[in-house]
Amino acid sequence: MNRDSCWRELRQSAEALKPRHLSEFLADETRFEKLSFTHDGVLLDLSRHRFDCRTLDRLVQLAEASELRTAISDLTEGRPVNHTEQRAALHTALRTPPGQRVEVEDENVIEGVHETLNKMESLVATLHSGQWRGYNGEAIDTLVNIGVGGSDLGPLMACHALEEFKPDAAQGIEIHFVSSMDGSQLAGLLDRLNPATTLFVLSSKSFTTIDTLANAATACQWLIDASDEPRELLLKHHFIGITAKPEKASEWGIPLQNQLLFWEWTGGRYSLWSAIGFPIAVAIGMSGFRQLLAGAHSMDRHFRHADFHENLPVLLALAGVWNINLLDIHANAILPYDGRLAHLPAYLEQLEMESNGKSVRSDGSLVEQRTCPVLWGEIGPNAQHAFYQLLHQGTESVMCDFIVPIRRYAAQSAHLQEQHRLALANCLAQARVLALGDKALDDEGADAQPPWKRYRGNQPSTVILVDELTPYSLGQLIALYEHKVYTQAVIWEINPFDQWGVELGKKMATQMLDALEDPDSNEALDSATRGLLDQIRKRREPA
Ligand code: F6P
Repeated sequence: MNRDSCWRELRQSAEALKPRHLSEFLADETRFEKLSFTHDGVLLDLSRHRFDCRTLDRLVQLAEASELRTAISDLTEGRPVNHTEQRAALHTALRTPPGQRVEVEDENVIEGVHETLNKMESLVATLHSGQWRGYNGEAIDTLVNIGVGGSDLGPLMACHALEEFKPDAAQGIEIHFVSSMDGSQLAGLLDRLNPATTLFVLSSKSFTTIDTLANAATACQWLIDASDEPRELLLKHHFIGITAKPEKASEWGIPLQNQLLFWEWTGGRYSLWSAIGFPIAVAIGMSGFRQLLAGAHSMDRHFRHADFHENLPVLLALAGVWNINLLDIHANAILPYDGRLAHLPAYLEQLEMESNGKSVRSDGSLVEQRTCPVLWGEIGPNAQHAFYQLLHQGTESVMCDFIVPIRRYAAQSAHLQEQHRLALANCLAQARVLALGDKALDDEGADAQPPWKRYRGNQPSTVILVDELTPYSLGQLIALYEHKVYTQAVIWEINPFDQWGVELGKKMATQMLDALEDPDSNEALDSATRGLLDQIRKRREPA
């Protein structure tokens, strides 16, 4: 069957299924058994989606008709799937064990990957053993990652999630993240830090990102002012550069031995597995970092080899396609029931929206249907006291992803274990109420309630369970979402690996910088921008 006939059949299924409430689907006692899937400890429960098994078969047919199998080989074997930039997107190679071959331009990239991991390992060991010294000979005890987007969100998310996995050697090292261009994070931090014992990790794939370079310049000047030492010496003792552009890092002054490199074929938002993950390796040790890679690799192999009917990333993607394209649901809430995953929503916002927020197909034509939904999220229990009102009684249909570990606090107090049970209970309660609405309580009196106390339910959700949150399971989880994004991109025929949409704003900001200083350059601007510039200029000087 070709794509068009798959879409046609799916539209027919949607017409037939749309009037059915999720409570009708859930009346089937075998539903969980039929619609939950497991791989290597990760459980994906799709039973609260508004489809039946026949529809899922049709969605799988759509994936096959979209030549997903070939597309997966193209991705993992290093073909130039990012065709607008003529390059591969080989994040899977970053977690491939040594001894295997993946070639880009006749070079086996796996060797380079492991050389970099080894260099990371020795830098981590130098830091953990207190041998990395600042300008006055004191050991480094603070690391500040300066980066933005993919050079910030992944390490930030993983370091926060895996704090409990800090080995003893890393206990003495504090890690901070600075990203915002306005300097607000940095300003507060510099007041508290000791310049003699602080190491800045300057992370930027392109080494041209103004946000990062501006923060780096401020940090460097702070060091110069505090130490009275020459810039060159300070860069040697207090800066590591992580980049795919070593020549630019060298030009900025970072010595070669302080550079950790990665490759153009590593997309920024797919880069936490590369040297960009250095802060993670410092935080959880190199063996923890290798566990993270191993978890992702397990999901890679599954994505590559499992039948689509059992393939977690493919199924997660297909549930999304069903909701977005067939049921017209264009919002996706990411709801981890674990405070350690506080930064996961922001991480997935970039991963999904920067990848699939596209409206032009790979052949240059306009897409004919919706692509990436609006994604946002928050720690689930906190969001219950904030935006869940909209999920339960608003006018928007929203698909929700609930993510929760089954076990936590095994070696800690009974009170904490009780708190985890509380979180689990709330997660299950919310998924159930969103699906069933009033009917969840089996309360005969629901019909008699006033309209503002009614719950219509019928909001679809996915539940993802892992046994415990560990470096390994976090690796699996992130790779699950990466491959979900790729699968959807293949179905929508878009390129998930470029981000041309962010470029115009960067150019315009350069023009605005001039416009702020030079009123004569404003004439060609629109009246709204001119009005704001006038106001800013007038009010800039303190009265
Ligand atoms: O402007 C968008 C973007 O290029 C992202 O794709 C990227 O993750 C981020 O900026 C940071 O880029 P870099 O690592 O090159 O500084």
